[in-house]
Amino acid sequence: MKKDIDWSKLGFGYTPTDFRFQAEWKDGKWSEGKLISDPNIELSEAACVFHYAQCCFEGLKAYETVDGHIVTFRPDQNAERMQHSAARLEMPEFPKELFVKAVEEVVRANADWVPPYGTGATLYIRPVMIGSGPQIGVAPANEFIFRIFVMPVGAYFKGAIKPLKLTIPEFDRAAPRGTGDIKAGLNYAMSLHPTMEAHRMGYAENIYLDPATRTYIEETGGANLLFVDKEGTIVVPKSDSILPSITRRSLVEVARDILGMKVEERKVRLDELKDMQEGALCGTAAVLAPIGMINTPDGDIYLPSGMEKMGPVCTKLRETLTGIQMGTVKGPEGWIYKI
Ligand code: PLP
Ligand code: COI
Repeated sequence: MKKDIDWSKLGFGYTPTDFRFQAEWKDGKWSEGKLISDPNIELSEAACVFHYAQCCFEGLKAYETVDGHIVTFRPDQNAERMQHSAARLEMPEFPKELFVKAVEEVVRANADWVPPYGTGATLYIRPVMIGSGPQIGVAPANEFIFRIFVMPVGAYFKGAIKPLKLTIPEFDRAAPRGTGDIKAGLNYAMSLHPTMEAHRMGYAENIYLDPATRTYIEETGGANLLFVDKEGTIVVPKSDSILPSITRRSLVEVARDILGMKVEERKVRLDELKDMQEGALCGTAAVLAPIGMINTPDGDIYLPSGMEKMGPVCTKLRETLTGIQMGTVKGPEGWIYKI
């Protein structure tokens, strides 16, 4: 029986659900892992994660489809990205097949928490890995915890798909040749202060610039970006210091192969934004959230799509992607995993 929740009123927040999956790395290997019910983790005061931020995580969703199945979207891609993050942080890689199996197990165990089709809510899945072993010299931990927990969520930004106001921060989120391309907790610590500064000034998020030259746009604190230019071409910023978003890569395929649109993946200069027709944030949490205006050092840019609703190209992209996720549109082979 589904939980008694007002699904359509959910925001993006933490709710402890009934089960989580946990595996531990000890003596050079992963334990088999199992479902547990305790939402807490007890750790040494010297756990590496507390001091040296040895932590990486993932974010994906489960959906109830139009015909009542529960599915996840491309969990194999999250498994691969987490392996890449772990390797860069000197953490053990969690095997891909076990990752996908664990996602399925946790979602199945928490099926009553999966928001019903049509409510606008989804089940957010958060895999996380931490250096749990005690470590006082600067070195990787020798013990790790891999956990997956889930919670029902609504829209990431208040007002759902109302166009957002963004600003260009004076801070960088990542360094050249740093960790911007992995999902390390430390990247989010770097963005907390600029994010709060943006909120205090009335902006929903920041558009970070490339940390080497500060002339190209990168991404926001929790999502990649895409734009639509005057010719109707989808323009996707490319950089080595942004997270390779699975949503963005999927949208590029959807645009090219399903909708027959032209897509350019390239470096995008900050001064090109004034010529864009539409823009959006894209990510698992953000889905496709429209940009209305951008505050830049050279003045405010109001995109022609306006401050009231998402532009037509982004609307088409969003409807097609969410249609694939909810089973109303046929997507490419291998994207949807039935639970
Ligand atoms: N960029 C950052 C910094 C993020 O935190 C996220 C969220 O996961 C994304 C981009 C979007 O990635 P994905 O589409 O894989 O969720
Ligand atoms: C996600 O989209 O899954 C993320 O991890 C973004 C985070 C800012 C909530």
